[in-house]
Amino acid sequence: MGYDLVIRGGTVGTATGVFKADVAIADGKIAAIGVDLPAGEREVSAHGKYVLPGGIDTHSHVEQVSAGGLLNADTFESATTSAAFGGNTTLISFAAQHRGLDLRKVVSDYSVLAERGALIDYAFHLIVANPDRKTIETDLPALISEGHASIKIFMTYDLMKIDDEPLLDLLLTARRNRALVCVHAENHGMISWMGKKLVEKGYVHPKYHSISHPRGSEPEAFNRLIAAAELLDQPIMIFHVATAEGVKVIRDARDRGLKVFAETCPQYLFMTKEDLDKPGMEGAKWMCSPPPREASDQQSLWQALALGDIQAISSDHAPYRFDESGKLSAGPSPNFKQIANGLPGLETRLPLMFDALVSKGRPEFAGRGLEAFVQLTATAPAAIYNLPGKGAILPGYDADMAIWDPEKTVTITHEAMHDRTGFTPFEGFVVKGWPERVFRRGDEIIADGACKASPGSGRWLARTGGIAAEPRGVLVAEMDPERNFGATLL
Ligand code: URP
Ligand code: ZN
Ligand code: ZN
Repeated sequence: MGYDLVIRGGTVGTATGVFKADVAIADGKIAAIGVDLPAGEREVSAHGKYVLPGGIDTHSHVEQVSAGGLLNADTFESATTSAAFGGNTTLISFAAQHRGLDLRKVVSDYSVLAERGALIDYAFHLIVANPDRKTIETDLPALISEGHASIKIFMTYDLMKIDDEPLLDLLLTARRNRALVCVHAENHGMISWMGKKLVEKGYVHPKYHSISHPRGSEPEAFNRLIAAAELLDQPIMIFHVATAEGVKVIRDARDRGLKVFAETCPQYLFMTKEDLDKPGMEGAKWMCSPPPREASDQQSLWQALALGDIQAISSDHAPYRFDESGKLSAGPSPNFKQIANGLPGLETRLPLMFDALVSKGRPEFAGRGLEAFVQLTATAPAAIYNLPGKGAILPGYDADMAIWDPEKTVTITHEAMHDRTGFTPFEGFVVKGWPERVFRRGDEIIADGACKASPGSGRWLARTGGIAAEPRGVLVAEMDPERNFGATLL
């Protein structure tokens, strides 16, 4: 068989090993991996470079109205361009139902935007904020069966939060239809109460955002969520874990055999609450929810990643400009409750993680930082969200790859970024290792510092729930007809 392309002489990284090999591509798929493969129609040298799977960013807010009602700054075109420059070939964003909206219409409108703009492959999580009967009993089952096999809910934010009873309805629908339930889990009452008290007393600077989310709000919500998920035997994914106490709750649940998955994000590994303590409004650029915590939390998160308690790294890209369209939409001197939460991160996620895991060799990973990098940023996300043919360099898989220069040192600046946020919270970070060429289904989409892909060339990836979303089949007494006097509830 003739090869369209051979990437020659590189060091191939997988989640389980690193080896020198050529990678041959035919019809957009990986056709062969080996030494001295026959010539392809096109040859690309990767000598001295790493050949790694394209990144999969499974939590990014793109062309979406936020929990606070603000449209974010990126379109599918700008977000996926930025993602591609950062070494990614797939992202999952959010089709967001707000109160009063019809979920089917939300998804069809959002699909139009993605089809028009996306230049890497994509899927959606279905945000549910209007858990009425039609949404739960009709629309969700239909959308899941059509290939949208993950639901996202918020336990906080006034306009989005799902209370305990509808949470159970959603978990049950997810179980019956085999979808993963992803959750922003923080205790709403504590956050709302703290916010009011702080503002009333004049503590309005952005730094108080971090105080207003008491650290106990995370483990409390995790415990409540896990109890609900255990009642219904439904797998869950806990988004953006930020505290050591949160890690402990997840570890305990997993030790009991529950299907609790978790992610964290670079902002929780590289930032602390002190980053919000800047003159004037500047700290707003570091405001996200949950807020960055302490250095000791970072340590717990790294350890949880190394031990497998947290399985994935996403960006939680949530782009709000530092102007009246975004962070300052309530005026030039808002109180922290009036400032949009979120940071850009699609383009910096992989370089930051590569630098920490591979170039600096975080000690928790005992010399296997490259494998961990691939696992946490591509292979595990593909497995958890069931993206067949994605997330690894294997024969028959999509030829989604990035060639990384491990020696290239880059100082991150917002001018060099391709999203529309206009700032990066990682400004001035120096990273070693950069994705210099990116291939999506065999097409070179990033080369020589330019994007070669056209908007709309990204493909929607239909997904079933897969293994992660499969219930364990272990029922608590209340749900087990043999132990609950015969009641059939699931
Ligand atoms: O602050 C953040 N992360 N904003 C984005 C929305 C969310 O909470 O995921
Ligand atoms: Zn969130
Ligand atoms: Zn988010």
